[in-house]
Amino acid sequence: MSVPAAPAETAAVTSFAAQVRERSQGAHTRAENAGFMSRLMGGEGTIAGYTALTSQYYFIYDALERVGETWRDDAIGSMFVDDALLRRTALEADLEYFLGADWRETIVASAPTQAYVERLETIAARSSAEFVAHHYIRYLGDLSGGQIIRVMVQRHYGIPDEGLNFLNFPLIPKPKPFKDDYRAALENAPWTAEERAALIAEVEVAYGLNFDLFTELGRSQEQ
Ligand code: HEM
Repeated sequence: MSVPAAPAETAAVTSFAAQVRERSQGAHTRAENAGFMSRLMGGEGTIAGYTALTSQYYFIYDALERVGETWRDDAIGSMFVDDALLRRTALEADLEYFLGADWRETIVASAPTQAYVERLETIAARSSAEFVAHHYIRYLGDLSGGQIIRVMVQRHYGIPDEGLNFLNFPLIPKPKPFKDDYRAALENAPWTAEERAALIAEVEVAYGLNFDLFTELGRSQEQ
């Protein structure tokens, strides 16, 4: 499934958001079609595989949300940091569901996850544009393809809601208007042309980090 083009009538007012989306379409398709992800979506994955993905996401969102706290009071960062998006508590609940109360002692960050966390702690921490690049690809993705993933893993593997808190946004009952507002914030954030270019470049890097994560999960799940 490729990301549909933005509707023509909104293209003029959402030109930067549309540009971000268009420039990253190829990287999106590559991440979406990574073997691990397409097997999971096609019903050839396992609950263990989804649990492994959830475990890696825990480290990533922990870092993303720690860095996010440092942007909360920033003039631009505050346009994006939103408690309704925060996923760490949801991931903790899911891991307790899948792995039991001592889940913290059993999960280990893979090498690609460690690289992702390091990127968040350095690059996302240094400018609001690079932070938002990472914020955008995870949270807007979770509110978009993530909602399809939720339906598919529930269907294929029978995972109940108790294990899918990560993909459930109780404070965002309607993703569409939320995503429209998010794109408007991308548009209105007073970044310079250089900062906008840095955001687009970092979105590309972030898709690559996700791709590497899925590749490693694919490898480890095959063993
Ligand atoms: C099987 C996996 C996936 C499917 C089926 C999928 C599907 C989609 C679809 C249909 C949209 C458009 C939704 C809309 O316009 O409202 C979308 C948007 C998006 N997806 Fe995915 N996706 C997948 C994986 C991913 C991954 C792995 C990431 C990032 C790591 C991601 C990040 C995004 C982002 C950031 C958007 C928003 C684009 C924008 O409007 O600016 N997706 N996805």
